[in-house]
Amino acid sequence: MYIRSLALASYRNYSQLSVSFDPGINILQGENAQGKTNILEAIFVAALAKSHRVVKDKQLIQIDKTFARVNVKVSKRTQDVELDFILSHKGKHGKINGLQQRRLSEYVGNLNVVMFAPEDLALVKGSPQVRRRFIDMELGQMSPIYLQHLTQYSQVLKQRNVLLKKLQVQTTSSSLMMMLDVLTEQLIIEAAVIMHKRAQFLQQLQQWAQVIHEKMSRKQEMLKLRYLPSVEVSDKENLSKIKEELYSAYKQKKMIEVKRGITLFGPHRDDMAISVNEMDVHTYGSQGQQRTAALSIKLAEIDLIYAETGEFPVLLLDDVLSELDRHRQSQLLETIDNRVQTFVTTTTTNELHQTVLEQAQTFYINQGTLEVTG
Ligand SMILES: Nc1ncnc2c1ncn2[C@@H]1O[C@H](COP(=O)(O)OP(=O)(O)OP(=O)(O)O)[C@@H](O)[C@H]1O
Ligand SMILES: [Mg+2]
Repeated sequence: MYIRSLALASYRNYSQLSVSFDPGINILQGENAQGKTNILEAIFVAALAKSHRVVKDKQLIQIDKTFARVNVKVSKRTQDVELDFILSHKGKHGKINGLQQRRLSEYVGNLNVVMFAPEDLALVKGSPQVRRRFIDMELGQMSPIYLQHLTQYSQVLKQRNVLLKKLQVQTTSSSLMMMLDVLTEQLIIEAAVIMHKRAQFLQQLQQWAQVIHEKMSRKQEMLKLRYLPSVEVSDKENLSKIKEELYSAYKQKKMIEVKRGITLFGPHRDDMAISVNEMDVHTYGSQGQQRTAALSIKLAEIDLIYAETGEFPVLLLDDVLSELDRHRQSQLLETIDNRVQTFVTTTTTNELHQTVLEQAQTFYINQGTLEVTG
C-alpha cells in the first residue's frame, strides 16, 4: 500500500497542508524544528490513532485551535481508501471513506506503518514498558481483536486493583473475596488471549528479524527474541494451558495480592528479551549492536505485515537513515527494494546513499510549509 496524499488542518505547526507523495521514496529535508517529524507523526496518527511519541493527544492540536484533522488517501492492491482522523479537546474519532467508525479499534489497521525513530533505541535500552508498548502497537495494527482484548483487560485490571485496595483493609469480607474471584476469572480470560497472541507474534517476528539481522551484521550476529511473560507458562502456544496455569498462579498468590493491594502479575508486567549471540543486548550490547538490533526488529515488521495482510506497510524513517553506515543503508534499501513506500526525514542529504537520492522525490520543509524540490 502507499499514501497518495496527505492533508492536515491545525495539526502541530501545520495550519493547512495538502501534498501528494511518490509511491517510492520521499525525502523530507529541512532544518531543525521546521515540521519534518510532525509529518511522519501525522501519518502514524492516521494509521494508529495515537502518536508514536509519548505525548498527550491534545498536544497534537495546534496551539489555540480546538481541533486537528489528518486526512490520507491510501492506495491498496485492490482498492483505495480515504482515512480521516479528527482530534478535539473532547476526544478523537476516525472515518473510513467518510463513514465515522463506532470504535477506534475498527478504524485502526486500514493503513499499516512501520516507524523507525531515534527513540526506538529504547526498544532495546529502555524499560519493559517500552517493549510492551511496541508489541501492543504492532499487534494492534494487525489485529483489531487484540486491541479489544487489551482494552477489556485494562478495564478489569483497574477494577481488580480497586477491589484489592479495599480488601487490604477489609481482609475478612467474604462478599469482597467473592467479587475478587469473579474479577480474577474475567482477568484470566483476557490475559490468556493476550499472552497467546504476544507469544505467536514474537515467534513470527523473530523469524524475519533473524534473517535481516544476519545480513546487517555481515553474518556475524544471531538475533533472538524471546517472550517473557510475568507468569511462567509451560506452553506459550497453548491457549487452554495458559488459562489453566494462570488460574493456579492467581490462586496461589491470592493472599499476597490482597496483602499488597495490587495485581502483581499479568500481561501488564510482561517483557521480551532481545539477545545477540546468546547475550542480552539490553545489558551487554554495544551502542551499534543495540541500534542494529532495534532496526532489524523494525524492518522485520515489514515482512510480517506483508505475510499477515498481503500488503507492504509504509515505512517512516525519522532521522535514522543518515545515522546508518553505507553497508546498513544498502541492506535497508535491499529490504525496501522498490516495494515499500518510504518517508525519510533529514537535515542534510550529504550522508545519504546515492541510490536513495536518485530514486527519491525530495520535499523541502520550512516553518510548516512544504515544497517539492526534485
Ligand atoms: N501543538 C503545536 N502547535 C504548534 N506548533 C507545534 C505544536 N507542537 C509542536 N509544534 C512545533 O512544531 C515544530 C516542528 O517540530 P518537528 O518535531 O516536526 O521538527 P523537525 O523538523 O522534525 O525538527 P528536528 O530536525 O529538530 O527533529 C516545533 O518547533 C514545535 O514548536
Ligand atoms: Mg524531527
